Amino acid sequence: MKHFRSERVRATPKLFTYVLVGFIALLGLTCLYYGSSFAPGSRKSDEFDGSIRSRTGFAKNREGALGVSRFEVPKSVPICDSKHSELIPCLDRNLHYQLKLKLNLTLMEHYERHCPPPERRFNCLVPPPSGYKIPLKWPVSRDEVWKANIPHTHLAQEKSDQNWMVVNGDKINFPGGGTHFHNGADKYIVSLAQMLKFPGDKLNNGGSIRNVLDVGCGVASFGAYLLSHDIIAMSLAPNDVHQNQIQFALERGIPSTLGVLGTKRLPYPSRSFELAHCSRCRIDWLQRDGILLLELDRLLRPGGYFVYSSPEAYAHDPENRRIGNAMHDLFKRMCWKVVAKREQSVIWGKPISNSCYLKRGTSVQPPLCPSGDDPDATWNVSMKACISPYSARMHKERWSGLAPWPRRLTAPPPRLEEVGVTPEQFREDTELRFQKGATPVYVQTLVYCSLKYVLLQETWRLRVMEYWKLLKPMVQKNSIRNVMDMSSNLGGFAAALNDKDVWVMNVIPVQSSPRMKIIYDRGLIGATHDWCEAFSTYPRTFDLIHAWNTFTETEARGCSIEDLLIEMDRILRPEGFVIIRDTSDNINYIKKYLTLLKWDKWFTETTPKGDSLSTKDERVLIARKKLWSVTAISEL
Ligand SMILES: *[C@@H]1O[C@H](CO)[C@@H](O)[C@H](O)[C@H]1NC(C)=O
Ligand SMILES: *[C@@H]1O[C@H](CO)[C@@H](O)[C@H](O)[C@H]1NC(C)=O
Repeated sequence: MKHFRSERVRATPKLFTYVLVGFIALLGLTCLYYGSSFAPGSRKSDEFDGSIRSRTGFAKNREGALGVSRFEVPKSVPICDSKHSELIPCLDRNLHYQLKLKLNLTLMEHYERHCPPPERRFNCLVPPPSGYKIPLKWPVSRDEVWKANIPHTHLAQEKSDQNWMVVNGDKINFPGGGTHFHNGADKYIVSLAQMLKFPGDKLNNGGSIRNVLDVGCGVASFGAYLLSHDIIAMSLAPNDVHQNQIQFALERGIPSTLGVLGTKRLPYPSRSFELAHCSRCRIDWLQRDGILLLELDRLLRPGGYFVYSSPEAYAHDPENRRIGNAMHDLFKRMCWKVVAKREQSVIWGKPISNSCYLKRGTSVQPPLCPSGDDPDATWNVSMKACISPYSARMHKERWSGLAPWPRRLTAPPPRLEEVGVTPEQFREDTELRFQKGATPVYVQTLVYCSLKYVLLQETWRLRVMEYWKLLKPMVQKNSIRNVMDMSSNLGGFAAALNDKDVWVMNVIPVQSSPRMKIIYDRGLIGATHDWCEAFSTYPRTFDLIHAWNTFTETEARGCSIEDLLIEMDRILRPEGFVIIRDTSDNINYIKKYLTLLKWDKWFTETTPKGDSLSTKDERVLIARKKLWSVTAISEL
């Protein structure tokens, strides 16, 4: 409340009288207003208490992974064998052999998620590889990383002619090349903007192009260079023969994730990206009636582009021409049109309305998806070989009528209604409100009367400022780059970090997955995930993890706090931080784990200032993971 006090000191007596009159006049009104408007915060916590009991009961709920009851902690958590230093539990090829899974390699099922059943979980701390160093800081990391952190150099040899990466002493350098753009991604990005005839050769086209999906992205150099154009790419690749490409991308601090176009939908809602990109991504787009292309079609916004830079698009030998022609035919049946063609790239455009689909003959393949299909259901949902038409409401507007970036970050997005959030509630997430009881009513009134501009401050911005005050003494400059928000709700946390040089992976837990489209409509990126399972990322990939109510929610679904902590430890970089905002019960329990996880002795805890999103009984815990090594521990 510093803001308010300093303002009052400066106010003249005349103004003060004026304000006082306003205060008296508004007091009765305010009490009424606040009675209804500030209730949701406390109501939410009551609902939760109820649902924990009724949905899961105590027995299941309180039994953790290590078989101890909820309020005891085990004596220790073991360290995994060092051969598991790159363990990704749900993408573990050894598990496929152990469980004798029959996976179809042609369909890439072996790169899709298959999580271990509870009895096969490791329940141990993943050790860093020997010689691991704290990662280089962004932006240096864009161009070089420590070799010891990712001791895999075969990509440098295999792609040596393409300038992907070069081993240089104890570092690996990234000259910015790619399979298709040996001359660097920067020139390639400009040439794409020229092809699209965008003013000033700027690919973001005044903010209308913001979200990009790069499939088969290599070490994500395309995405890395898009960042300076105010474009954010979700760079996607499987853990395939080019193993560790995503590990390199994340080590470099570039937004990216493990994923594959296989049999399951990607964990993003429909109409999330303005542009999809494949440069020699080695995907057979014609297979299975074009099902993979139809998945891209689902993900593109009305008018979205597909940039295809691959020999099939330009080479003149018979085989490539045959494939190119067949693709051309398929695209036409999908109502896509060639927007531009130059040298080695073709850019296709998706229609902006349903009218072309409706004009097609009834027997034309691929068919439209049946009306019962929800194009936004993605978690463990099979891809479908059909076109997802636009809903009647979201019809006919290029980019779904979104405001240009960066305005779309704070403007209430058109799809709010689909997730049952009113523009008023959206603003509540982003604007300052006072929790009933947290601030005296007259202060609230005065603020409402005379300092209305304070309302423009965002709830999340204030929360982040509060966190930052606690974190600041411990954080080195530029040491936070890869951030994960485990329960993003409407993306407020990421929006509050927008002016920082970080990127945020916004995770929406599966039980609230419809909200993912709000994340994308705001020009942010993220993925749906079930926190009862491990996330599809390498160990040691995030510098900061924010968990708001994630423990309460995960426990309410019958999954254990222990498992979640061990998973957070896996994906957190050494010297990385967690910000956990949860019930004081959960915070007290989590604190008991800090030593078992070998985290730092330093941690800090506070009762946060109340706001409109607060629950009754909230605590914030900020803790730090320590860098330890297997050899140092065994010598003790
Ligand atoms: C894998 O899937 C393809 C395409 O559906 C099918 O033709 C093939 O028979 C499958 N292979 C196995 C081993 O099931
Ligand atoms: C995913 O779906 C398949 C079949 O649709 C089902 O057998 C499997 O149990 C599901 N997996 C999870 C983790 O829910």
